[in-house]
Amino acid sequence: MSDVLTPVLSANWADDRAWTLPVYAERGGYEALRTAMAMEPADLITLVKDSGLRGRGGAGFPTGMKWSFIPTDNPNPTYLVVNADESEPGTCKDIPLMMANPHVLVEGVIIAARAIQAQRAFIYVRGEVLHVVRRLRAAVREAYEAGYLGPNILGSGMNLDLVVHAGAGAYICGEETALLDSLEGRRGQPRLRPPFPAVAGLYASPTVINNVESIASVPAIVRGGIDWFGSMGTEKSKGFTLYSLSGHVKRPGQYEAPLGITLRQLLDLGGGLRANPDGSSSELKFWTPGGSSTPLLTAEHLDVPLDYEGVGAAGSMLGTKALQVFDQTTSVVRCVLRWTEFYKHESCGKCTPCREGTWWLVQVLRRLDEGQGREGDIELLLDLCDNILGRSFCALGDGATSPITSAIQYFRDEFEAGMHTPSRELFPPAASTLFPQEVTA
Ligand SMILES: Cc1cc2nc3c(=O)[nH]c(=O)nc-3n(C[C@H](O)[C@H](O)[C@H](O)COP(=O)(O)O)c2cc1C
Ligand code: SF4
Repeated sequence: MSDVLTPVLSANWADDRAWTLPVYAERGGYEALRTAMAMEPADLITLVKDSGLRGRGGAGFPTGMKWSFIPTDNPNPTYLVVNADESEPGTCKDIPLMMANPHVLVEGVIIAARAIQAQRAFIYVRGEVLHVVRRLRAAVREAYEAGYLGPNILGSGMNLDLVVHAGAGAYICGEETALLDSLEGRRGQPRLRPPFPAVAGLYASPTVINNVESIASVPAIVRGGIDWFGSMGTEKSKGFTLYSLSGHVKRPGQYEAPLGITLRQLLDLGGGLRANPDGSSSELKFWTPGGSSTPLLTAEHLDVPLDYEGVGAAGSMLGTKALQVFDQTTSVVRCVLRWTEFYKHESCGKCTPCREGTWWLVQVLRRLDEGQGREGDIELLLDLCDNILGRSFCALGDGATSPITSAIQYFRDEFEAGMHTPSRELFPPAASTLFPQEVTA
């Protein structure tokens, strides 16, 4: 594995007006589309399968394999849906990608649509990010004007319409089947599977749902080929990817690197942890490898390869590669409480373990945060988590338990301290805040 940055999706982010079609084309944008138009759909699927590209939306499911599940004998239309709902706390890669480089996504959509023979595609984008919605719509307009979308694309006989749909701000609408319900105009709640979307997805028709980064990676694979793609990353987790470094680091941001890089390397690239107010260097306390629903890791995991296998072996999940870094000033109880409040708020209410369980988790965590925990509260938290994990209808419930059980595993003493001392006394919020407020008289 190479240990240097490998900017591909982010290579043009600093270009002047990088989001416009002419600037994108200057760096070879839409060349992959021309190549793909000369290929058979089945060959495109094989190419993406052989590249080893795995879904960047969290679960790491092989993208080409997902495409190959689309039945070829189904009389209904096939749809492609891009999941751009990005709402997990800490996860912040798709929004900057779409903002800086929307055409790489549009180009990826057209190639993917050709592969699965879809004539209509949707980008379901989180509604609060109006600036991104506008930018995507502008890019789609440019692509229509250039003949890359619409009827008879580049004279190939292929037709494709692409709709940018703004969601209404619910985290659950990032869950792929809830997203489909929302896109159909209903309240977004997960669907029972089977049938899987590949067979009966949008409007009960065969549907592929992929993350923004997964689809945006396809043009580079078509251009560079599978050997080039496989020269980055590890054996089972190939290629480049966006790591989002945030929290108590000197230079937070997007770091595009081969899968398998470590947090230690990324922290070096990011200038290390921030300095304490007294000038001493701060210490890493805990971090998330892939957003708030992936189990916490600690300083002992600095050298874990950040690929699906490495992070899994360390007891967590690579998830969305959202590396939120917390130093010794942070109260793990307070942090976990904030995330759990989010999950309680975002629980769609469809199933009892998650709807009721997240509510109870918040009650118990609040009193521990206030230093008013009761004897047995830690066991109660673990018992609640045990009754949510694996018993919820979708992965939101499971994810809600991850920060709690892992925090208790590594920092049980802090939860015990919550029986008598408020977290704000042990860890004054002013010390951990990233943007200290100036006190004015
Ligand atoms: C509560 C919840 C929220 C999710 N949010 C997103 C999201 O915002 N974006 C995303 O791509 N996947 C999200 N997912 C995962 C999707 O269900 C799905 O696995 C993913 O879009 C598949 O794309 P991929 O194969 O390209 O990774 C979420 C899952 C859950 C359970
Ligand atoms: S786990 Fe939570 S979000 Fe998922 S269906 Fe059940 S209540 Fe809804």
